[in-house]
Amino acid sequence: MSKTSALRVVGDDASSTAIPNDLQAFWMPFTANRSFKARPRMVARAKDMYYFTPEGKPILDATAGLWCSNAGHNRDPIVQAIQKQAAELDFSPSFQFGHPKAFELASRIAALAPNDLDHVFFCNSGSEAADTALKMAMAYWNARGKGAKTRLIGRERGYHGVGFGGISVGGIVPNRRFFGALLAGTDHLPHTYDREKQAFSKGEPEWGAHLADELERIVALHDAATIAAVMVEPMAGSTGVLPAPKGYLKRLREICDKHDILLIFDEVITGFGRLGAPFASERYGVTPDLLTFAKGVTNAAAPMGGVIARKHIHDAFMTGPDHIVELFHGYTYSAHPLACAAGLATLDLYRDEGLFEKSKAMEPIWADAVFDGLKDKPGVLDIRQVGLTAAIDIASWKDAPGKRAFVAMDKAFHDEGMMIRTSGDCLVVTPPLIMSESDAGQIVEKLARVIDATAMPA
Ligand SMILES: Cc1ncc(COP(=O)(O)O)c(C=O)c1O
Repeated sequence: MSKTSALRVVGDDASSTAIPNDLQAFWMPFTANRSFKARPRMVARAKDMYYFTPEGKPILDATAGLWCSNAGHNRDPIVQAIQKQAAELDFSPSFQFGHPKAFELASRIAALAPNDLDHVFFCNSGSEAADTALKMAMAYWNARGKGAKTRLIGRERGYHGVGFGGISVGGIVPNRRFFGALLAGTDHLPHTYDREKQAFSKGEPEWGAHLADELERIVALHDAATIAAVMVEPMAGSTGVLPAPKGYLKRLREICDKHDILLIFDEVITGFGRLGAPFASERYGVTPDLLTFAKGVTNAAAPMGGVIARKHIHDAFMTGPDHIVELFHGYTYSAHPLACAAGLATLDLYRDEGLFEKSKAMEPIWADAVFDGLKDKPGVLDIRQVGLTAAIDIASWKDAPGKRAFVAMDKAFHDEGMMIRTSGDCLVVTPPLIMSESDAGQIVEKLARVIDATAMPA
């Protein structure tokens, strides 16, 4: 059989799109491949709040892509910045050489970050950012002469991407169980969700700050002299939106300080406005030692991630002979010129359109729309929300966990023209920050219809 797939072309103008006839070669990530290929959910173009199928049907983006296109899609200043950069400097190595936009973007990100989070290390994804932060934490203690501090503490239900560091510290079972013994020397805090105590909380739940005290138990077991860092998401996103209980993150910070343990916030989702501030760290008034970011930094128009380090972390490495590399870590594409250009244009757009402030102002309107529109729908077991996010737990179909949400996601796309995400039997929406009140209303109405339509198995 020929390995060349034929293409079918839809449309006869500038917006014409080629549709592949053969979907087999692309092994899709985190996807039910066979279901997708039997009934594809294909998008070919995007603008602002909408994707468009190859046939031109609009799809309301209730997910900001993958929690990443915070300013909406194909924004002109970002597109133009990437085009200009591609024609000017396509690539330059960041090992021992530099290009101006990398330094400019690092300064801009450091200026947005709270307190003395002053130094930015670039990589290309959230997974790389997570593994970079974990490695930095271990190397930091080594540089400080405390090389026994190597243990890494994460949290049940945490998601830190798919590298071996991230899945070891992360706590999403299917992401871990097929991959052997993972990193040695990790442990996990309990997750912070209890439906009985927290159901239908708007924003941060009242119950659960005490769960941070579990860190004391872990320290007692392993001894602080062996622990490098604790890594958590300020809001656990991928597991279905678990906002930090009120006071939880402050308590974690206090316990880390007491025992000389670094605190890492994974802000890959919460960074760049999702929770109504440049970083969740600011919303909660808690400064971690290391903060990871990705996604929204470039509005997802080019891959980029990174770690912001506090001054004392960075400075601990700046010793020894000055011709020697201080941190043996980096990626060919760290601070890629196209990503830096996209990042600078994105930060300008966030500033010029006041998108973080807009996100903050929109939060109560969004929360009311979601709770009022969905809490009485059939089989809705809980709704969680913080910032411009929402997760709706729906009752599973008998003997088919996850199937109802999967069908709801498929129906949302094909019947309602809307993109949503799922996590088990949980529907997750995280719209672009440019969402209007009317967009919010539409998202809720469409969700209500797919929840109704999946109340009983077909
Ligand atoms: C908190 C968090 N960390 C890390 C990642 C991994 O990012 P990436 O898929 O860019 O590797 C994600 C992705 O959703 C995330 O939500």
